[in-house]
Amino acid sequence: MVQVFRCKICGEAFVANNKSTHCPFCGAPIKWLVDAKEYKEPEVLELSEVSRKNLEFTYDLEVKAARIYHCMRKKSKDEFIVGMMKALSKVELEHAELVGKLIGKDPGCEIPFQKELCTEDRKESLERTKELEEDAVKHYKKFLEEAKEQRVKDIFEALINAEEDHIKITEENL
Ligand SMILES: [Fe+2]
Ligand SMILES: [Fe+2]
Repeated sequence: MVQVFRCKICGEAFVANNKSTHCPFCGAPIKWLVDAKEYKEPEVLELSEVSRKNLEFTYDLEVKAARIYHCMRKKSKDEFIVGMMKALSKVELEHAELVGKLIGKDPGCEIPFQKELCTEDRKESLERTKELEEDAVKHYKKFLEEAKEQRVKDIFEALINAEEDHIKITEENL
């Protein structure tokens, strides 16, 4: 049966026959996907000082990653890298957007092409991606521990999951 699903992490909606294994927008795993009829918008939070600081840091990291992957996508002549970076830049932009909602920031829907941010070399691109993703996971694990708010914990748990998937893809193709 064709249904509308929504992601409890990023709030995005999609039409599908079955729940996909991941949110196609933010990469959150299946447990966060619900029938659109059951979806409730998460409440706006009063953030602790540490969570605000961690979310600000996360926002900057995600915007930076989205720009670097967008650069790789634009410059690469390898169709696999083009596809992979197209997917990753969109996911990271979605992460910036969902984190931004909590701190009153919006990355917009256009990622600027800054050609100085990357090279067109395949191996270098994958190594850089692995580095960026590992750095993000390291930070997000710490931020998850420091979070007191359930919504913030859920977000970091989902982000860790998505970035760990990116590490797996990178390692499998290096
Ligand atoms: Fe999502
Ligand atoms: Fe991300």
